[in-house]
Amino acid sequence: MAETLVHDSTASTELQYDQLLTQLQALCHGEDDLTANLANIAAAMRQTFNFFWVGFYIVKDQQLVLGPFQGDIACTRIAYGKGVCGTAWQSKSVQWVPDVDAFDGHIVCSSASRSEVVAPIIKEDKVVAVLDIDSDKLDDFTAQDVAGIQQLSEWVATLF
Ligand code: SME
Repeated sequence: MAETLVHDSTASTELQYDQLLTQLQALCHGEDDLTANLANIAAAMRQTFNFFWVGFYIVKDQQLVLGPFQGDIACTRIAYGKGVCGTAWQSKSVQWVPDVDAFDGHIVCSSASRSEVVAPIIKEDKVVAVLDIDSDKLDDFTAQDVAGIQQLSEWVATLF
């Protein structure tokens, strides 16, 4: 298992996500414990991009339940269709929110969070989890970030 992450912050955003994905695939290779893998993925994403908050909510008993994450303590349960996470679940589409205050129904876990991207993790046409990434800066995510996060999410689905 790789013990250190290589990160070239001078590379294009697209390449940085590609390099992270390659390293995560190596990191999770041969490990079939979902919690262990999601925990390392959240840590690696935080370590690479210095996200304010990054983590998973897992679909359990018709709710999203907090899973492995990096950052401040967060809400533990989110209902279907509620908040940015519940909307990603319901719509099965990535939610790119440049200003959380402008998102009707946004759930405040941390008042410091200003912008957010949530990607659904879809396995056999069902949302099994969402990947939630928050920033403490307004409009902090680019289209390249969203594409990279979506690509990571598609791979994470293969771990479920
Ligand atoms: N803001 C999210 C809730 C989760 S926290 O940001 C970690 C939402 O509206 O669904």
